[in-house]
Amino acid sequence: MANVLDDRAAIARYDGGGMLEAIPRLAEQLADGWARSRSLELPASHRDPDSVTVLGMGGSAIGADLVRAIFSDRLRVPLVTVRDYDLPAHAGPRTLIVAASHSGATEETLSALAQAISRGCPVAAIGTGGPLMAAARKGALPHLEYAGEAQPRASVGSGVALLAGLLDRAGSLAVSGEEFAEASASVHEMASRCGPSVPTEQNPAKQLAWSLVDRLPVVEAGGFLGPVARRWKTQLNENAKTVAAWEELPEATHNAVVGYAQPETLHERTFVVFLASPDDHPRVALRRSLSIDLLAERQIGHEVVAVGGRGRLAQAFSAIALGDFTSVYLAILYGLDPTPVAAITYVKERLAMADPDAVD
Ligand code: F6R
Repeated sequence: MANVLDDRAAIARYDGGGMLEAIPRLAEQLADGWARSRSLELPASHRDPDSVTVLGMGGSAIGADLVRAIFSDRLRVPLVTVRDYDLPAHAGPRTLIVAASHSGATEETLSALAQAISRGCPVAAIGTGGPLMAAARKGALPHLEYAGEAQPRASVGSGVALLAGLLDRAGSLAVSGEEFAEASASVHEMASRCGPSVPTEQNPAKQLAWSLVDRLPVVEAGGFLGPVARRWKTQLNENAKTVAAWEELPEATHNAVVGYAQPETLHERTFVVFLASPDDHPRVALRRSLSIDLLAERQIGHEVVAVGGRGRLAQAFSAIALGDFTSVYLAILYGLDPTPVAAITYVKERLAMADPDAVD
């Protein structure tokens, strides 16, 4: 049978928005975002906060989850991600607020930002334009810009580097340029293994896409790879337009592990991907292999992806690149262009037309 994933012309036809070319650019975003954050000057009000709250949605929010998890061994203060309209009551003058929105026009982010400003919180912004950057320039708020033109979800390298760089400048986190160089190298390495010119027999992303087609993908990971599993899930949603789920270990062994039993008709239609780091807690690694035993008993498809790279940031971005490639190849197996997200656009457009106080 002809394999569409080994047909360069067919790939180019489906990937009209160039999502495959965008994945290796995560490497440049990491290096460039870190470099640009070096010239950010933060006023005293923004330095040494008691906590950090990042406001964002979708592809602009995941960077905050990744920073929290990857640097959990070094972050000096709690970091909360708010994916909602309202700022939690605990945010106050000692809470550094970072509003992150690629478009700068996402209403949940703008709503929580307005509350942060009126509450007197120190505020910074990460964006490209829209009302967010207009407000940042008008109010002289410290701000950083995502690199170049890309879909928000294809800007996760910038999202992580700019936020980590900003927190480094605020004195809440100490990161080094070498870590970003390692992470860039790991993206390039994964891209050389997963690019469209590498045939399926040697290409782990194409092979995974074939395992996931016509199945419900579930991605499980522990520790700092937890948000990477979430990233896989959202990329599978937005690029491949498929339902998908993510689970965190060890928590998954207290509930999800039971739930694979039913409905039985889903057993042959489910595929579980485990992201495994050599740095995983040994008990998490054991919980993973026990989970695999139970899946095997039920004949539920599964695969362990061994994540490599020097340091957590490099490992996380290696796994992110693999997940991104897999999601794009899955889109192509479904005969779809990975780039457009018509359902998100529909919701945003209808919301813009609706009465701002309408509830349904
Ligand atoms: C689209 C994407 C979305 C957006 C989300 C918020 O590529 O990733 O999840 O990130 O709709 O929009 P922005 O990022 O512009 O605030």
